[in-house]
Amino acid sequence: MTVIVRDFRPSDAEAWTRVRRAVVPYLVTTPEQVVHDLAHAHPDRRYRLLVAERDGEIVGTAQAGIAHDSPEPGQGFCTPHVLPGHTGHGAGSLLLSTAEEHLAQAGATVVHAWVLDTPENLEFARARDYRPGRSAHFQHLDLAGGTLPPLQEAPAGVELRPGSDFDDDPRPLFEADAQVTLDEPSDIPTELDDYEDWLTNIWRHPAFDSALTTVALVDGRVAAFSAAGTDGERTYSSNMTGTLRAFRGRGLAKLAKNDSLHRARAAGYTDAYTSNDTGNAPMLAINKWFGYTVRATEVRHARTLG
Ligand SMILES: CC(C)(COP(=O)(O)OP(=O)(O)OC[C@H]1O[C@@H](n2cnc3c(N)ncnc32)[C@H](O)[C@@H]1OP(=O)(O)O)[C@@H](O)C(=O)NCCC(=O)NCCS
Repeated sequence: MTVIVRDFRPSDAEAWTRVRRAVVPYLVTTPEQVVHDLAHAHPDRRYRLLVAERDGEIVGTAQAGIAHDSPEPGQGFCTPHVLPGHTGHGAGSLLLSTAEEHLAQAGATVVHAWVLDTPENLEFARARDYRPGRSAHFQHLDLAGGTLPPLQEAPAGVELRPGSDFDDDPRPLFEADAQVTLDEPSDIPTELDDYEDWLTNIWRHPAFDSALTTVALVDGRVAAFSAAGTDGERTYSSNMTGTLRAFRGRGLAKLAKNDSLHRARAAGYTDAYTSNDTGNAPMLAINKWFGYTVRATEVRHARTLG
């Protein structure tokens, strides 16, 4: 049985989605999204998608690139995924070594990879000189069958609006996203400072749903938001929930996320997912309050190149 690794072609989008959904069912993955990500990647991202074929069937995927929006240069990333039943035949190793070669040529000095917290995956990373760093919990909420906390009344001076009210001018949400992203615990610090790139890869991303996003305004200004992603069918994901520093600790993140979740349930979404750094105590507390339960944990690993 021969395993080869090659660049992704748009005609692979369905197979790509099948692999990703099987390996990481806690993320929204759609064929439109993967095609968009590749077509619109910022040139500095040096973004490359790889697939592993085993006897002509796509059994593995990997995205590799440079975290161009990090203030620290040379931060590469790559995460190989191989379908259950096809591991142990060299697909993961070949995906990773091909990605590392590309990243070294693109100027990466370190490669970050998310590793699912299972003995096999941790050993795969350890054996390839990756050392563990921060971890994150994938959490799930049964929207259809579970009980969401009741909708809360917005306090005086606070107004809830759908994100789509900002479709004509989303810049206030870009500015809010930039501030809260700086404060999100992570191994790779991220600075959002390119509005055009944000418009293309966040606001106009095919999996982003501005209508199900909720924005909390205080005295008419953006104070908090909960950004919704969906697969257009049953799965909803929280892309970012954030409260501007001056407004934290007043329940605004809960208020915005609750409104978005209620509207997602009314729109027919049955399963909500979110992922949080295990050191993000306030966000984990909020998600516990909603009834989310931990489904899996992933550990960020890093390998220094050269
Ligand atoms: C996480 C974040 C969204 C919280 O916003 P917020 O408006 O202050 O949140 P709320 O006031 O609605 O709720 C905060 C909850 O966390 C709890 N909390 C705060 N600090 C905590 C801590 N250190 N440990 C445990 N719980 C904590 C609060 O008690 C409150 O719960 P309660 O209402 O049951 O008491 C905000 O800190 C933020 O924007 N952080 C940066 C971006 C980020 O990390 N977003 C999440 C990534 S997905």
